[in-house]
Amino acid sequence: MRLLILGGTWFLGRALGELALEAGWSVTTFNRGVSAADLPGVEAIRGDREQFDDLSRLAEHGPWDAVVDTIGFVPREVLAAATALAPAVRNYVFLSSVNVYTGWPSEPLNDTSPVFECPPDADVDFGAELGYAGQYGALKAGCERAVIETLGTDRAAILRPGVILGPNEYVGRLTWWLARAARGGELLAPGPLDRPIQPIDVRDVASFALRCASDGVVGSFNLGAPIGRATFADLIDACVAATGADSRPVWVDPEWLVERGVQQWTELPLWRTHEGVWKVDSSRAEHAGLRCRPLTQTVADTWAWMTDGGTAITGSGEAARAADHGLAADRERELLQEWNRRV
Ligand SMILES: NC(=O)c1ccc[n+]([C@@H]2O[C@H](COP(=O)([O-])OP(=O)(O)OC[C@H]3O[C@@H](n4cnc5c(N)ncnc54)[C@H](OP(=O)(O)O)[C@@H]3O)[C@@H](O)[C@H]2O)c1
Repeated sequence: MRLLILGGTWFLGRALGELALEAGWSVTTFNRGVSAADLPGVEAIRGDREQFDDLSRLAEHGPWDAVVDTIGFVPREVLAAATALAPAVRNYVFLSSVNVYTGWPSEPLNDTSPVFECPPDADVDFGAELGYAGQYGALKAGCERAVIETLGTDRAAILRPGVILGPNEYVGRLTWWLARAARGGELLAPGPLDRPIQPIDVRDVASFALRCASDGVVGSFNLGAPIGRATFADLIDACVAATGADSRPVWVDPEWLVERGVQQWTELPLWRTHEGVWKVDSSRAEHAGLRCRPLTQTVADTWAWMTDGGTAITGSGEAARAADHGLAADRERELLQEWNRRV
């Protein structure tokens, strides 16, 4: 198998490369070489996906059995990549997001729920009125169209993960909870403790993407762990167990936190009260071979990575978002004091 990864050095792209190399595939990566080191063993091609000439030059290094595009955010750029690479690849696997659904996170979703309307050649400013998450989702929907309209439905796999966690995570979600658990003491945990969550391990996303690449699996697929298999309490317990610290979760009423202006998703990562946030049905992908490891394993392996000198890349892009994640220690203490006085 010959695989091309657009990206390939941070998180998901890195996991893809590692898994493909382990399987004995020949792997080419395409990136600017500014943010992180290349994986040993890949053929690394330098270039900027915003430059059509770089993409045309890249295509000359083909052919490949498949490309996995981990870094498509602007339809016009994805259209350019798909156009340049169509003669050089058999299949195109595009990393989209659950954000393409107009109903996320407010309502439960399946693979056929309505998605944002966005032209396949839209530019980066399309949908600005939708806010950060809405615009991101609309642009991803336009990227999906760009791939499908260029390659055709028989050569395109569209992957729509929810939250991805695991070693090398740079958004700062699980890594924050682990670092917090390691600090010990009373830990503010957003109730209810049986709230279901369904993050997916980065290696399980990578494994499914490689299955699409090797077996020519096509279509669009939600990617998340089975609904209801894990709860927020499982997440917190796994963080405490992995770190071995003496953290004691104090489960706080979610409405009480909302009233105090605690920011969902960022100040308390992965916590969100919306009805549909963790109700994304991924059964189509399961039937096509998606397998999700237990959350406890993702947590333990991420802690092992963090304590083995693992540092998330900080070069550019989404890595900057890590600074937005997590509750300041002073604020947590004040909230807990108020909560403990109240009950
Ligand atoms: N994290 C989540 O929870 C989540 C959830 C749903 C969907 N997703 C999607 O999953 C994907 C995650 O990808 P990742 O960041 O983990 O991928 P990655 O392939 O591991 O890292 C990003 C790569 O893109 C390269 N890059 C950035 N800008 C570039 C440019 N202009 N030209 C060429 N290369 C460029 C970077 O290297 P250089 O900087 O050196 O160029 C890096 O190699 C995204 O599409 C995201 O929307 C993520």
